[in-house]
Amino acid sequence: MSIYNFPSAYASLLTPPPVAADEIFQWIARCLGSRPQKIMDPACGPATWLRPFAERGCYVAGNDLRLQMILEATKRLRDFPHELRVGDMRTLSFREKDFDAAINLDASLGHLPDESAVLAHLRCVWSLLRPGGVYLLGVIVFDDQHEDSAELLYSEDYQPLEDGGEAFLRYTSLSRDTTQRKERIQVELFTRGNPDLPRYFKDTYDLLTFPAHRLKQLIHQSGFVLLDAQMIDDSAEHVDDIEPDAGDLNLILQRPLASPSLR
Ligand SMILES: C[S@@+](CC[C@H](N)C(=O)[O-])C[C@H]1O[C@@H](n2cnc3c(N)ncnc32)[C@H](O)[C@@H]1O
Repeated sequence: MSIYNFPSAYASLLTPPPVAADEIFQWIARCLGSRPQKIMDPACGPATWLRPFAERGCYVAGNDLRLQMILEATKRLRDFPHELRVGDMRTLSFREKDFDAAINLDASLGHLPDESAVLAHLRCVWSLLRPGGVYLLGVIVFDDQHEDSAELLYSEDYQPLEDGGEAFLRYTSLSRDTTQRKERIQVELFTRGNPDLPRYFKDTYDLLTFPAHRLKQLIHQSGFVLLDAQMIDDSAEHVDDIEPDAGDLNLILQRPLASPSLR
């Protein structure tokens, strides 16, 4: 079983607060030079990040591998113009085309099995963006930092659930294997007062990590250029380049206005 089997609890606990959603919206608008009108999330979960964009007037399109996630996203986007589909993030297909932006936060890219899958995904997103469109992408960058000791990544106090009761999530990095290019993540769900949820649940999964130089190659091969990057740590520093061992980063990739002509 996976935490993704509890889409409603996931959405209750991980929906971004308005201030965080505003920051991301404004960042994308600054990079585009205008407010985004059409946005998509290739691994949208229960529309955790799509809904704030829908509330700000965007047409939103979401894709996810899991039907349960798409059913939850359908409920949460009911009052907004949207389209949703079940599918793999390497083979996206929406009714709308020419998106201003795509968002894929929380290192969901790392669920893909290997670098060739990542390249296929990047090329697919590139093809669905309009020229000048941007892709906000969360990645994990590790080169040499092999790590066998556990590190707490995220934990909150109990919070109310929309379906009743309370819960919190705890994410721990159990290990990082820079040879295999994988980070092993443990996620725990603690609940009380909701008979439909287990009192406690634990899952582990691997996320792909990237050496800095390899990630830059993949970005280049896909046709994107790196426009901006922000550290996901207390500094929240914006950086010009993807440095080795940068850890968790949010990147803004841009589909250039003019693509190089094919000869
Ligand atoms: C961290 S969660 C959801 C993140 C989501 N962007 C949000 O705003 O909440 C990651 C999601 O990726 C989905 N996923 C995993 N592998 C996938 C794939 N190959 N294609 C599409 N979705 C995938 C999972 O089902 C899960 O819903």
